[in-house]
Amino acid sequence: MIGSVSKPKRVVEATGVVKDYGDGATAFRALKGVDFHADEGEFVILSGPSGSGKTTLISILGCVLSATAGHVRVLDDVITAAPESDLPKLRLAYIGFIFQGHNLIASMSAQENVAIMLALRGWNSIDAKKEAARLLSLVELSDKIESLPADLSGGQRQRVSIARCIAGNPPIVLADEPTASLDAQTGQLVTEVLHNIAKKRGHTVITVTHDNRIYHFADRIVHIEDGLIIDEKKDSHP
Ligand SMILES: Nc1ncnc2c1ncn2[C@@H]1O[C@H](COP(=O)(O)OP(=O)(O)OP(=O)(O)O)[C@@H](O)[C@H]1O
Ligand SMILES: [Mg+2]
Repeated sequence: MIGSVSKPKRVVEATGVVKDYGDGATAFRALKGVDFHADEGEFVILSGPSGSGKTTLISILGCVLSATAGHVRVLDDVITAAPESDLPKLRLAYIGFIFQGHNLIASMSAQENVAIMLALRGWNSIDAKKEAARLLSLVELSDKIESLPADLSGGQRQRVSIARCIAGNPPIVLADEPTASLDAQTGQLVTEVLHNIAKKRGHTVITVTHDNRIYHFADRIVHIEDGLIIDEKKDSHP
């Protein structure tokens, strides 16, 4: 019946977002008025040339950086109105972030790197370690849970950071080039894990990538160039 289908919930909404790095004569405008949105259960790809503003945009959506101007809402919080000191709290409540480069803690094992995220989200240490082992098995790293980051390959470290990012089930997962250092098979595995987070759990996944092997997974591909969104295209599910 027309009207009986409920619209998916809008999870992220950004309007007119501007980001300047530095100030005065050295200021650089990395985002020039970006409008962007993502809904519950959506898998959105953000693509664009190097230096176009992709990391800057997802860092603002992920409560890592503040916008210079514009409006960003994440679920019930208008993050552009929140004081900078509230950003870590909002990030912990809402966001799983896979950074460009992996940002693992060098002195901690793979399992501890994942468990620490759960501990930050209030889990006790025994449950956190068990859950960390389960998440590492999802990315096929059960045999490496005791390894330090230095003893893992680049692709394995990237998979640890994916397990850490989804630890505790954050409603929004942001991934910055998650398959960049991976071979085709591991890249496919990682993309399937991210896709399942959107399609099976109904979470929102926004992935920056140049990797056109994973474009067909996306509900939408948003192109950014020189700090502006230039194009959006619908794509089919795999
Ligand atoms: N901390 C900073 N200070 C000054 N300029 C910055 C800073 N971070 C990024 N920039 C500039 O802002 C622009 C956008 O950077 P951003 O990292 O968002 O690009 P990107 O699209 O993620 O690029 P890549 O694909 O290479 O990762 C670039 O020109 C970059 O040099
Ligand atoms: Mg980047």
